[in-house]
Amino acid sequence: MLGAGEERAGLAGGPRPAGRPVLLERDDELEVLGAALDEARAGRGRLVVVEGHAGLGKSRLLAAAQGFARGTGMAELEARASELERDFPFGVAVQLLEPALASAGGGGRERLLSGAAELAAPLFAPPEALARRRDEDVYPLLHGLFWVTSNLAERGPLLLTVDDGHWADEPSLRFLLYLAQRLATLPVAVVLTARPGQPGAEEALLAQLALGPHAEVIRLDRLSAGAVDRLVRGAYPGAEISDGFTRACEYVTRGNPLLLRQLLAEVERQGLGPDAGGERRLRELGPESVSRSVLLRMAGLQLGATALARAVAVLGDRVPLRRAAALARLEPDLAAAAADALASVEILRPGEPLGFVHPIVRSAVYAELPRAERARAHGRAARLLAGEHAPPESVAAHLIGAEPEGDAWAAQALGEAGRLALGAGAPASAVRYLERALAEPPPPAERGDVLVELARAAAAAGDRRAVERLEPAIASVADAERRAEILFSVGRTLQARGRHREAAETFDRGRDQLGGDSPELALRLEAAYIGAARMDLVTLPAAVARVSRARRRKLTGATPGERKLLAQVAYEDALAGAPRERVADLARAALGDGALLAEESSDGIAVYRAALALAWTEELGLAAAVLSEAVADARRRGSPLGYATASYVQAQLDLLAGRVDDAVADAEAALAGAGDGWRMDLPGTRATLGRALMERGDLDAAAEAVALPGGDTPWEEAVTLGRLHEARGWLALARADPARALTHFEECRRRQGWVHAANPAVMPWRGGAARSHAALGDPDTARELAGEELALAREFGAPRAIGAALRALGLVTAGAAGIDHLAAAVAALEDSPARLDLAHARADLGGALRRAGRRSDAQDELRRALDLAHRCGAHGLAEHTRDELAAAGSRPRRHHLSGVEALTASERRTAALAADGLTNREIAQALFVTVKTVEWHLRNAYLKLGIGSRRELRGALHTDGEPAVQARP
Ligand SMILES: Nc1ncnc2c1ncn2[C@@H]1O[C@H](COP(=O)(O)OP(=O)(O)O)[C@@H](O)[C@H]1O
Ligand SMILES: [Mg+2]
Repeated sequence: MLGAGEERAGLAGGPRPAGRPVLLERDDELEVLGAALDEARAGRGRLVVVEGHAGLGKSRLLAAAQGFARGTGMAELEARASELERDFPFGVAVQLLEPALASAGGGGRERLLSGAAELAAPLFAPPEALARRRDEDVYPLLHGLFWVTSNLAERGPLLLTVDDGHWADEPSLRFLLYLAQRLATLPVAVVLTARPGQPGAEEALLAQLALGPHAEVIRLDRLSAGAVDRLVRGAYPGAEISDGFTRACEYVTRGNPLLLRQLLAEVERQGLGPDAGGERRLRELGPESVSRSVLLRMAGLQLGATALARAVAVLGDRVPLRRAAALARLEPDLAAAAADALASVEILRPGEPLGFVHPIVRSAVYAELPRAERARAHGRAARLLAGEHAPPESVAAHLIGAEPEGDAWAAQALGEAGRLALGAGAPASAVRYLERALAEPPPPAERGDVLVELARAAAAAGDRRAVERLEPAIASVADAERRAEILFSVGRTLQARGRHREAAETFDRGRDQLGGDSPELALRLEAAYIGAARMDLVTLPAAVARVSRARRRKLTGATPGERKLLAQVAYEDALAGAPRERVADLARAALGDGALLAEESSDGIAVYRAALALAWTEELGLAAAVLSEAVADARRRGSPLGYATASYVQAQLDLLAGRVDDAVADAEAALAGAGDGWRMDLPGTRATLGRALMERGDLDAAAEAVALPGGDTPWEEAVTLGRLHEARGWLALARADPARALTHFEECRRRQGWVHAANPAVMPWRGGAARSHAALGDPDTARELAGEELALAREFGAPRAIGAALRALGLVTAGAAGIDHLAAAVAALEDSPARLDLAHARADLGGALRRAGRRSDAQDELRRALDLAHRCGAHGLAEHTRDELAAAGSRPRRHHLSGVEALTASERRTAALAADGLTNREIAQALFVTVKTVEWHLRNAYLKLGIGSRRELRGALHTDGEPAVQARP
């Protein structure tokens, strides 16, 4: 169960642990690891984070976990992060996966990198492939790496170990996080070690990993005095050991086994034993003395040992002997002898490649190197590595440690590493490389390019001063259009990270560069400004004013810039409630028959703005077509964020169209994206999910959906918080709590003013408030509000909005007038594709007719309402309608859920794609879930549908010749 290295790592010469190295006081930890591996083998993946200070035994536990895996058919993949390579983007991930790809052979490698995994191929190819990547989005790479892992896991269970995670590069940790989000159904165990509170560590990412749903944390404690005592005895088998010596060991090492081994090695070097002499030496060394003892031992060795150790300390981990020898300027034979000597005193690991027994020992040697010498050594190491055609990042890592010398070669190598890091989605590393490149400095002709890249990298890294940093870069670029383009790209980077206000400001500066020239680029910048500024309550009024200006410009949608701007105008007009035909025309012109999506991709927002505007005008067919194109685009590019955004808009469309199950599935897909960092609109998504769950009749789940994790406070400035209050209002009404409902609808009133969204098709809060007032005994206010809503709806002119307002008016108006309003609502809604609204109106009309004693008319309406409610999957409404029917004297047969209707939203979706001929893997890649999740849904779907194979799916899903479920992921 111990790693091979352990067997050899006994104290060389002198005291030796008897037999195999022991592992003391780690029984609980081993149990946690063993259980995690068992779970993983059973297909329920786990992540374990082992935390502890240097020398407490993290690596040792990792080796034990690998021991557990051995012999159980679990494949092992391992990586060790190193201090020197923390800016090597995906260094750890590649270290983990590359050997598996290499050993798979030509065909196997191809298979492992096929499908969505192909997105990660640039990481396993020569550096040019990465540099060629156009966008700086890291997600396609994450998604690709996930699929490489998933493909590997298909061959059998996997154990991934990452040692010294506190030095892991940021993108690799993001990959682990992406994987951790999807571990539940994979036979994969991940064990990661890290020192707590390590300066420069990606603390936030490490914490996120540790807090994940399938994660466990092991915190290592020091060993007890008893354990230290046993280790000391083990080191001197059969010898007599004085009590004072043991106590000194305990006192000096404070239960740290690494320190103990190092100190015993020093005692041994001095030719002392476990007696009074040894005790004196220990107490002299004192606590925290690894460093001194290492240096003392090193100094006592033969010629060349110190030089070699220093060379290895500079070069890092896993150093070929010849490289270390070259850097130390030693003859190969002498270097080999020095390496052996260093291994004999517990400084280097025995054998090749060279490395220190522990990173702490490396630090001791490295810290002892005089600064200037260290810098010179790094400079030479960089050239040495470049001569060996090492990856540019490895070369650059050394250049960062070297003094700037105005060397064009160095500046170029650093710039190259910076560009690669930006392409790999590691902007913080890119910043470090590029800043160093600038300090070199580069030849004057290249300075501008470095500055520009630095500015983009800084923006991507979330640097608050990114825009400021930009000033010199901007000034140094002669061409105004180029300046504007740079600002455009920086703005988009900021916006993707949810920093809308700064993004808006950056877009504006971009436009300022142009003066009156380049009208097309100016349009794109203007549209981008509006898109960003509208997302922040502070800048929103300015965005609205700019839209007014755009409206006066007679845009036709002939160019990309015009289309982008038109999308904003259409959206703004829709929110304000401008006549629906106009809104629809604008939105269509903006979409330009697919041109807008092609220009913006599914990650841009203009497409969704146009799609939503269309949805409110009830052009549901076109809106749906646009969104399915967007989903397809997100899938092609492996963009979980684009997929989440498309799903989020799709969910709203589903609800409008009365596809309750789809609305739930889409909203959940968007929220799953939140696990990957999707931040577009959490309150709005939860509002939609809550409404859909309510319609499904699950009020408790709905209540859970509309409560924001972390509370509302962080979202106070979110433009869409009002929609969440609206959902809460409807929920309170459904739970017969009109007073609470009213407070939520009042909040909608306030927020609606702030966000300039008067259109009741967008947020029909007045109808809700009217019904609350009526329930609280104030019919006059109720009618007034409903009347207002109706007037606004008529201005917009969309049947659903008009029908909904008439329905509200009917519900708060007594007697025959009320019935008339409800009948008018039904009539209006019959002209609309909004099936769910029609179902509600019919149910309400039926109820009112029954109360008026018109039983047969009532039964007629209620039966139709029931039928519609079933088709929509609105089980809550169906239940209510059945009660009404019973009260009207009719006994509808109880509707038993069976067949297609019994499927959950996810099962329907998965089954529909399977019926369309997609393989499980293709379905998983399409839905951004794991293959196991797909299998699970399909198995349940088969059971519920009473079928045994994929071939029967199509028939089972299609009833009456009409598809009951559509493949629309
Ligand atoms: N529980 C333990 N019992 C005995 N020896 C241990 C124990 N944990 C660690 N060691 C020894 O202490 C040294 C440091 O352990 P290591 O795993 O490298 O620490 P870390 O990775 O936490 O820095 C190694 O020589 C290891 O064999
Ligand atoms: Mg370690």
